Amino acid sequence: SRNIRLAVIPGDGIGTEVVTEGLKVLEAVGTKIEPTHYDLGAARYHRTGETLPDSVLQELRGYDAILLGAVGDPSVPPGILERDLLLRLRFEFDHYVNLRPVKLFPGVETPLADTAAEDIDMIVVREGTEGLYAGTGGAMRRGTPHEIATQESLNTAYGVERVVRYAFDKAQSRPRKKLTLVHKTNVLTFAGDLWQRTVNRVAEEYPEVSTDYCHIDAASMFFVTQPGRFDVVVTDNLFGDIITDLGAAIAGGIGLAASGNINPERTAPSMFEPVHGSAPDIAGQGKADPTATILSVAMLLDHLGLSAEAAKVEQAVADDIVERLTGWTGRTTSQIGDDITARVSS
Ligand code: NAD
Ligand code: IPM
Ligand code: MN
Repeated sequence: SRNIRLAVIPGDGIGTEVVTEGLKVLEAVGTKIEPTHYDLGAARYHRTGETLPDSVLQELRGYDAILLGAVGDPSVPPGILERDLLLRLRFEFDHYVNLRPVKLFPGVETPLADTAAEDIDMIVVREGTEGLYAGTGGAMRRGTPHEIATQESLNTAYGVERVVRYAFDKAQSRPRKKLTLVHKTNVLTFAGDLWQRTVNRVAEEYPEVSTDYCHIDAASMFFVTQPGRFDVVVTDNLFGDIITDLGAAIAGGIGLAASGNINPERTAPSMFEPVHGSAPDIAGQGKADPTATILSVAMLLDHLGLSAEAAKVEQAVADDIVERLTGWTGRTTSQIGDDITARVSS
């Protein structure tokens, strides 16, 4: 079979560190991959003023998948790299499914009391192309005491339906077959109403899937008190962003949380990245946990149809994690990457 053509965007801060480890594992798993690095991020921005040149965007379209570390740097005003690079990729490549598993691996310590691994096993289907991330906004009388800032949430019937359908399919394929819509229908009456009606309508086509609804505030509480309530969660862009950091925290920490920005119709490459950011507070010190990126690599392999390879990477991570219980602490980023790589190659 032909080589996998992979675009690699290490980005900023710990992004570069964790991507190095992700690639090590990918190369050890025995697939022919052909990585091409793209230096996008803060350094490029400072050097040339560019975030994502149109020519690069067009080139990226031609790859089988994209692996991204993280973007964002304290030296760049907030929003420039996040919106013009990361979000632009998600929007242009129609990554309307942001798939974020929240799964407690056996042996991982959760901050929740009396919680076993099987109690936390859900998947958050976060909408990726609409909501507050895509709406218009503006500021009037900026900098005055009378400033007015608006930021609108954009929700289309088309956009909501396609992600809801994906979530129902996902729920149908899982043993518990349960789907929970998380929103704030009691306040966001226009957007929430569209989401709820869409779920109700699509539910009729999935009689085996039980559906449920939770307001985002209560869902945040239940993530901590009763995470076992959730199987597949479908939610909008911002709620999904916030609740998946919470999901990461209950499942052992942000260093373990993987994600895939999926274009299900494959009209453009999907993009895999850890849920975390560039972590400027620990960047350059070899302290970052690369596990989230390595698990994102497993999702990438799975997306490309290499499910045996994906399972191998997941198992290597699971085995490594079990060893962490018995004192394997204090390893550097590259030591963790090397240890998981060794398991994958053996
Ligand atoms: P962050 O996820 O970068 O860091 C939050 C905390 O978690 C920090 O204390 C950090 O040290 C820790 N942490 C994160 N990843 C870790 C890892 N792999 N191992 C160990 N500890 C880890 O979030 P933030 O501080 O809110 O944001 C920092 C920058 O990253 C900002 O510019 C933000 O916009 C950007 N960001 C980018 C992405 C992305 O590219 N997908 C995601 C989130 C934040
Ligand atoms: C994430 C990040 C991004 C988001 C930011 C950096 C734009 O927090 O991937 O979770 O909000 O989606
Ligand atoms: Mn986030």
